Amino acid sequence: MITIISSTNRTGSSTLKVAKFYQRQLLAAGVDAGLLSLADLPPNLIQSDLYGNRSKEFEVIQGVVNKTEKFIFIIPEYNGSFPGVLKVFIDACDFPQSFYNKKAALVGISSGKYGNVRGIDHFTGVCHYMHINVMSLKLHISSIHKELDADDNLYKPDTLKYVTEQLEKFVAF
Ligand SMILES: Cc1cc2nc3c(=O)[nH]c(=O)nc-3n(C[C@H](O)[C@H](O)[C@H](O)COP(=O)(O)O)c2cc1C
Repeated sequence: MITIISSTNRTGSSTLKVAKFYQRQLLAAGVDAGLLSLADLPPNLIQSDLYGNRSKEFEVIQGVVNKTEKFIFIIPEYNGSFPGVLKVFIDACDFPQSFYNKKAALVGISSGKYGNVRGIDHFTGVCHYMHINVMSLKLHISSIHKELDADDNLYKPDTLKYVTEQLEKFVAF
């Protein structure tokens, strides 16, 4: 099972729009893919689900993580790295079995010029610590406000070419 992680809890995020676009692309290609938005984490996560605590709400999310073999992380650039809420989510998941020997594709997005190159590198380090096999083709989508059309689809030919290549390779990965 593939799960796309929208890696921020910011309301109205471009990250969630890109995550939904990735899901539509996979479904159109006949590949089943779920979506987990970090906006749906328990609001009190740092008290309810860290360090051995477990809430009923997070149990459902943990169940999705357990069933997932391949993750696509869509990750916005926040202060030159990946969002803190993504690390809190990872820290809340059961260790090591949640991610051990699973696979991931990474997509960085930003309003600035760099498409979260550094945050994707930082998160790759976290993935390797957890024994997630990260696919080497990573995407960096900069100036995200210029990339989405009125229907929240990525539309630029160059971007679409790389998204398609990344998804085809990830399905085979
Ligand atoms: C807390 C925070 C920090 C941010 N830091 C950066 C940054 O370092 N570089 C950058 O290009 N954009 C930065 N942005 C802008 C995001 O890249 C932009 O909002 C983009 O749309 C992706 O984030 P989103 O999914 O929250 O919309 C930041 C946004 C937030 C909310």
